Amino acid sequence: MDHKLDLNQIDSIYQGPIDILKGEHCVILQRLEMIERTLQYLESLPSQTALKRCKIEQSRLRTWVDELSGQVALHFSMEEEALFPVLAEYIGREHGLIEVMLQEHASISSALSDWKNAASQLCKLTVSAREGLLKVVIGSGHQSIALLRLHISKEDQILFKICEVSLSEKEKIQVWKKLRAIVPI
Ligand SMILES: [Fe+2]
Ligand SMILES: [Fe+2]
Repeated sequence: MDHKLDLNQIDSIYQGPIDILKGEHCVILQRLEMIERTLQYLESLPSQTALKRCKIEQSRLRTWVDELSGQVALHFSMEEEALFPVLAEYIGREHGLIEVMLQEHASISSALSDWKNAASQLCKLTVSAREGLLKVVIGSGHQSIALLRLHISKEDQILFKICEVSLSEKEKIQVWKKLRAIVPI
């Protein structure tokens, strides 16, 4: 990314950095809905359900949780490397909102990692042996989904609003350039 680009040059490809991050939130929330439906389906399956059907659902869940984990990790690094350092100039980094967001990133990453591992283990078990671990996968899934939804809501309702009113246009372009260095168009 050329950091010497001026406003006229980037005009055609520029999108507000907060809009980019909000757009990512929408994609993550849609994915959570899909995964939640699969969790509910797995929860409702009678224990004697056909092996083939269970394996399909478990394998789908593992793929989606893997993808979600990667997507969320990238989103967190976009916020942590591009947005938070600029916002910290206004609201400080420690003992405030940014610190809370960073703690939530750590808790969510840890919850997603546990969920991903459990979903992967589940796929290796026979249906008759899966009962206990299935409960762990479902519980871990509901917990991760709730944490992510709450975090996204706080950013949309509070943090991003502070960014919109605090950051100058020049700073927003600076954040945009950093975002595009992490995830090119
Ligand atoms: Fe975040
Ligand atoms: Fe976010």
